Amino acid sequence: MKTIIGKSTAKAAALLAAGELVAIPTETVYGLAANIFNKKAVGKIYQVKRRPRFNPLIVHVAGIQAAKELVSTFPPQAELLAKKFWPGPLTIVLPKNKKVGDWVTGGQSTVAIRVPAQPLALRLLRSLDFPLAAPSANPFTYISPVKPRQVKKMLDGRIGYILDGGKCSRGIESTIVSIHHGKVTLLRQGAVTEKELEAVLKIPLVRSAGKGPAHPGMFKRHYSPHTPLIFTDDILRVVEKEYSGKKTAVLLFRKRLHLPASVKQVVLSTAGNMEEAAANLYDSLHQLDNKGYDLLICEKLPERKLGKAINERLAKAASR
Ligand code: TXA
Ligand code: MG
Repeated sequence: MKTIIGKSTAKAAALLAAGELVAIPTETVYGLAANIFNKKAVGKIYQVKRRPRFNPLIVHVAGIQAAKELVSTFPPQAELLAKKFWPGPLTIVLPKNKKVGDWVTGGQSTVAIRVPAQPLALRLLRSLDFPLAAPSANPFTYISPVKPRQVKKMLDGRIGYILDGGKCSRGIESTIVSIHHGKVTLLRQGAVTEKELEAVLKIPLVRSAGKGPAHPGMFKRHYSPHTPLIFTDDILRVVEKEYSGKKTAVLLFRKRLHLPASVKQVVLSTAGNMEEAAANLYDSLHQLDNKGYDLLICEKLPERKLGKAINERLAKAASR
């Protein structure tokens, strides 16, 4: 199969309607999309990603109305959050109704839903008469893609079309919450911060203990480059200890350090801006992973705002 990168939502729609996979841009990361009502098509997502079957997918819809059609209840907290954050990088987990097949939810009775804030994705979704199941468009455990050619590099020959929406503006996955008996539980840190959520909910979030049959934190290794990666809050010490004889790159939050000239330094945001750091995170990791380094050393960010979500990704990326 030849993998084409293009800007035609009509072409994407035709392929999806025919049961094919299409990589789609979202504001967070690129997704690998299929028609949720087509069991075979959704099955291809798992094959192409080599993703375990019990790991459920996020369903992307064009708006609140379309979301309500997939659930048995849409509680007031969901209403509040959806009105404030959709379209946007917030995924809400709710009890599914029978329109949503088990093949989308990994057999769970709940479904994860969001409305992406990306013009091409929205245009595509509005043109379809089915929602799209879409996990991030990377092979299982690898770094999520934020540019069309990163998708192509990883999935070339395995999908027919990549809808080109340029670089993803947020660069980090959606925040995931579930709602149960009026309580809102944070299942995955992401592009919407806990503070932003709590400001809207006016009640504290419940922090997930990471339990249950399938949940976002269940895999220790994730978001992970092929190059060995060390995640640390003491870059200087790690460089001193590890770097001799190794072709090394360091990924830093805002400031370059006094390091041997042979160590490549990449800064995520010279302004110290968390949004910018998030937007550059996966892009930088993809670039560094393609340059034949022996070792990547990544600096722990301050645990504020998006720093938490970024640190969570880097900790998993370091896991082997
Ligand atoms: O920003 C994003 O969320 C991107 C874009 C493409 O929308 N998607 C994404 O999908 O990150 P994925 O599959 O890489 O991560 C989805 C996470 C998984 O960890 C999965 O376990 C969790 O969502 N999830 C999906 N359905 C769930 C459910 N019913 N209950 C609990 N967790 C669920
Ligand atoms: Mg993913």
